[in-house]
Amino acid sequence: MNAPAPSEPNPTACIGVFDSGVGGLSVLRALHRHLPRSRLLYVADSGHAPYGERDEAYVVERSRVLTAHLLREGAQLIVVACNTATAAAVRALRDEHPDVHFVGVEPGIKPAIALTRNGRIGVMATRGTLASDKFRQLVASHAQGAQLHLQACAGLAHAIEAGDADSAEVRRLVAQHTAPLRAAHVDTVVLGCTHYPFVAQHIQAALGAEVRLVDTADAVARRAQQIAATLQPAGDAVFEPARLWTTGALSTLQLVARKWLDFETETLALPAN
Ligand code: DGL
Repeated sequence: MNAPAPSEPNPTACIGVFDSGVGGLSVLRALHRHLPRSRLLYVADSGHAPYGERDEAYVVERSRVLTAHLLREGAQLIVVACNTATAAAVRALRDEHPDVHFVGVEPGIKPAIALTRNGRIGVMATRGTLASDKFRQLVASHAQGAQLHLQACAGLAHAIEAGDADSAEVRRLVAQHTAPLRAAHVDTVVLGCTHYPFVAQHIQAALGAEVRLVDTADAVARRAQQIAATLQPAGDAVFEPARLWTTGALSTLQLVARKWLDFETETLALPAN
């Protein structure tokens, strides 16, 4: 069978996705919207989250382990649905697997520059992302002339990991981390961690309706769609439930999959080591 033309979405590509935890489900749901008949595999490394508070070597090692699992399960394309892991590990993963396609996520500085009217942009992300060389390079090549206000949101991804995006702890942390951005009069805020779209309503309420939030999940899914269209079909075009593993509590993954995803999933435990 011939490979489909690059412009056609491949309905049967097998796409592996991972994050430090459940945050990458915000990318998975965008992938499902763009590639509804692809086979989707996801690993939540909740037993090792949050990555944003770990050192780089730890995140690189976990990214290797999760990539190996997804490749064993048949992934043809890996989406690193985590800003922190992309910054720390995507380069090493590409070097180690030259035949595999990797799509990473990075804070949406470029779209924010296009959107801002007053030139003041807030970036909410983990400490690990904001401290990375990759982020420094992104800023150096795309943020000339804009005022960036960087907010390392300690604790926020961890609070969202608990599975309740409306908890008192989530609201307290959102209030704490948005206050400096409000004071800086930013008009655009980048959600630079894949966990944050699940609390976007609280971030928006804290910043005010006129502030624009930038989430790159759709752009990442479009990029994956382009690559999937160049791959050999993985099998017959049969819908299968997305397969989700966690190295943390299975009950939490099941809860958030029910709440945050509108498609069928199968949830499984993956040993944490
Ligand atoms: N979801 C991850 C990201 O996009 C990080 C959360 C964590 O600190 O584990 O950066």
